[in-house]
Amino acid sequence: MSAPAIELRNLEKSFGLAKIIQGVNLSIEKGERHAIIGPNGAGKSTLFNLITGKYTPTAGQVLMHGEDVSGMKPFQINRKGLSRSFQITNIFHNMTVFENVRCGLLWSMGYKYSFWHMINGQKALTEKADEIIEQINLTSRRNMVAGALAYAEQRALEIGITIAGGADIIMLDEPCAGMSHSETELIVDLIRKVTEGKTLIIVEHDMGVIFDLADKISVLVYGEIIESDTPEAVRASVAVKEAYLGTTLEDA
Ligand SMILES: Nc1ncnc2c1ncn2[C@@H]1O[C@H](COP(=O)(O)OP(=O)(O)OP(=O)(O)O)[C@@H](O)[C@H]1O
Ligand SMILES: [Mg+2]
Repeated sequence: MSAPAIELRNLEKSFGLAKIIQGVNLSIEKGERHAIIGPNGAGKSTLFNLITGKYTPTAGQVLMHGEDVSGMKPFQINRKGLSRSFQITNIFHNMTVFENVRCGLLWSMGYKYSFWHMINGQKALTEKADEIIEQINLTSRRNMVAGALAYAEQRALEIGITIAGGADIIMLDEPCAGMSHSETELIVDLIRKVTEGKTLIIVEHDMGVIFDLADKISVLVYGEIIESDTPEAVRASVAVKEAYLGTTLEDA
């Protein structure tokens, strides 16, 4: 069997005296859709930032396809094939949808492939950008400035930029935050489509989204994973119900 896409070994992160991540062990297989849930302040974003390289672990390791990437910079981890969603502010509001996606492509390539400098480079780039725009259902918005898009369309564009580099591990931080029910359904379909065959790690508060999308769910409480299992098992877990005071999961 090949190494897991992501493996966390006794991962810890402290800010000053506060130990926020307290020895997390987790294995995420290639092609798995893995959700991280947990109460506010549990450490989900911190864990996310440890995986992407934004934070350096206080102790323990992050392995990517079996390689220890702990302490590497975000761009180095990105080059190895992990891409995280941009915050909404990272969309260029004055640029068109097409220009945004093309930027994502160029940025992820870092101009390092001579391919893009070849005579057909520009054409290939345009074709690739248009292919992504079609995947995220924004073809009819191609030449519109991003700032003029509806909110859900902007989130779709963010996802397009995230997948543009062809990374095989995609991490999305609350992609459905602030969306209506119908917008959420559209985005979930889109996420499923564009991450087909890839590894997906998603932090999300909307339980409907999680149970619909995830193959596996990890529940983080006070910096510890109290359960990591299938959606069915997590839904049935007493420990998880207690952590959520029996409310959120019931409402899902
Ligand atoms: N850079 C930092 N410096 C100091 N404390 C931090 C830092 N980042 C996070 N924390 C603290 O770590 C704890 C966990 O925060 P984190 O943002 O990871 O939680 P979360 O599970 O993502 O919460 P939410 O669901 O509200 O987004 C919080 O108490 C927070 O105040
Ligand atoms: Mg958070």
